[in-house]
Amino acid sequence: MRTEPEQPWWSRAVFYQLYPRSFADSDGDGVGDLDGVTARLGHLQALGVDALWLNPVMVSPMADHGYDVADPRDVDPLFGGMAALDRLIDAAHRAGIKVTMDLVPNHTSAQHPWFRAALAGGPGCPARQRYLFRDGSGVGGTLPPNNWVSVFGGPAWTRVTEPDGTPGQWYLHLFDAQQPDLNWEHPEVPADLERTLRFWLDRGVDGFRIDVAHGMSKPPGLPDMGDPELPMLALGEHDPRFNHDGVHGIHRGIRTVLDDYPDAVTVGEIWVFENADFAKYLRPDELHLGFNFRLVRADFDATEIRAAIENSLVAAELADSPPTWTLSNHDVDREVSRYGGGATGLARARAMALVLLALPGAVFVYNGEELGLPNVDLPDEVRQDPVWERSGHTERGRDGCRVPLPWSGDAAPYGFSATADTWLPMPTDWAPLTVAAQHGDPASTLTLFGRAIGLRRGRAQLGQTVRWLSTAPGVVAFRCEDALVCVLNAGAVPVPIPGGDVLLASGPLIDGQLPPDTTVWLRTEARPDAADDSTHQ
Ligand code: GLC
Repeated sequence: MRTEPEQPWWSRAVFYQLYPRSFADSDGDGVGDLDGVTARLGHLQALGVDALWLNPVMVSPMADHGYDVADPRDVDPLFGGMAALDRLIDAAHRAGIKVTMDLVPNHTSAQHPWFRAALAGGPGCPARQRYLFRDGSGVGGTLPPNNWVSVFGGPAWTRVTEPDGTPGQWYLHLFDAQQPDLNWEHPEVPADLERTLRFWLDRGVDGFRIDVAHGMSKPPGLPDMGDPELPMLALGEHDPRFNHDGVHGIHRGIRTVLDDYPDAVTVGEIWVFENADFAKYLRPDELHLGFNFRLVRADFDATEIRAAIENSLVAAELADSPPTWTLSNHDVDREVSRYGGGATGLARARAMALVLLALPGAVFVYNGEELGLPNVDLPDEVRQDPVWERSGHTERGRDGCRVPLPWSGDAAPYGFSATADTWLPMPTDWAPLTVAAQHGDPASTLTLFGRAIGLRRGRAQLGQTVRWLSTAPGVVAFRCEDALVCVLNAGAVPVPIPGGDVLLASGPLIDGQLPPDTTVWLRTEARPDAADDSTHQ
């Protein structure tokens, strides 16, 4: 029998992405917090996840809900402060769950002491060197220094009022104006990040999700971008704002620190779609894992889904790094809605969950996915995402996938909080989706996730081979390491189920047939299969 070398814990882990504002509120202010998470750890334990990824909980004015960090080495009182994080780490570790957190190195909050000093010091002061301040172009410097646009809409530059009250220099912000980009050429910037990394790792954090890991480094001279008319939240080909070669030196610096904590992991948010470019981030001296977003972009279509999986496997192979799988996060519409909404959208989301959990590598589940939550169509007046304002109310933003989780009961706030005045309003029709309503129901999405994660865990010793099986049109089928066959019917008509014991199905099977929008897991004997058409190791 072949023995696999021992793999690090994260190489096959199921990570649960937890948006702290929306998970559980312990103090009745309508916003989720860390003691809320600790109180609900039983849910995550029952689900069987290996690790949490907490969206940012550092001190922040919350202009971008924590991605605008004013103090990277403290927890915001809104989330319960540092003591609440310590309690959560302790309880999670006792429950066998690792805790990873978001790290935001590309920018700070405009309220960070460094940026306040930069504003107060005026043009030419040393404090401005930590950011990207430039004189404007055009007569009197009234135009931005280049044509870069913010990912959230509008120009990527904002003009400041100088201490003497006159209109002055401009500063770069690839996101909101409250998120000034740091100058990674300045030695204090990497030095401060090292302090931050060690601070959290020494406190027991098990790793980091690195925000905008393809950002940070900017090309010399900040040349104009070719296509400033990009859709919001998009990344253009050859876009000078991102994926500049200098970023790899920054990741090597981060890895040097992480290597002092051999069990810890870094996962980069890398919106880069050239496989060779993507793989560079995962070289042995850079990040451990990189988010691959191909499935987030794929429609519910067999050809697209298979191409996305194949591409992700190729990228992982190139990097000799475990692949990662995700269908959604706090930045994109929930997959139930992306796949058409209603019963069909839910069936497809469940089917895709089984595809993800059958694949080798690390899987990221976004909170609420295990309940089959749809996106929420919120009224405009409650929108909070800066994208809504910056796009001049043309882009509705990301609030719809961030609505608080329903735990129990028949009406909002469904046990999320003591107040019905939650930071985003909860829909009136979520009673059947609560954790309590789904708990113990063999047909529920929650039960499906729990069973799939449990079965996946039982296969933890298996390797990384995916063999594609030839199928009817509209069907995606693969065998993972000889033992498990996963068949997704993304077509319009039922298809026969291949031989093997049914381990799990995402929906009812009818007369030995796999209905549309359904995935089945089968246990088969290990045997060479003439129908296999390609292999990924
Ligand atoms: C990342 C985060 C997103 C945030 C942005 C700016 O893309 O996922 O939520 O708004 O970075 O920090």
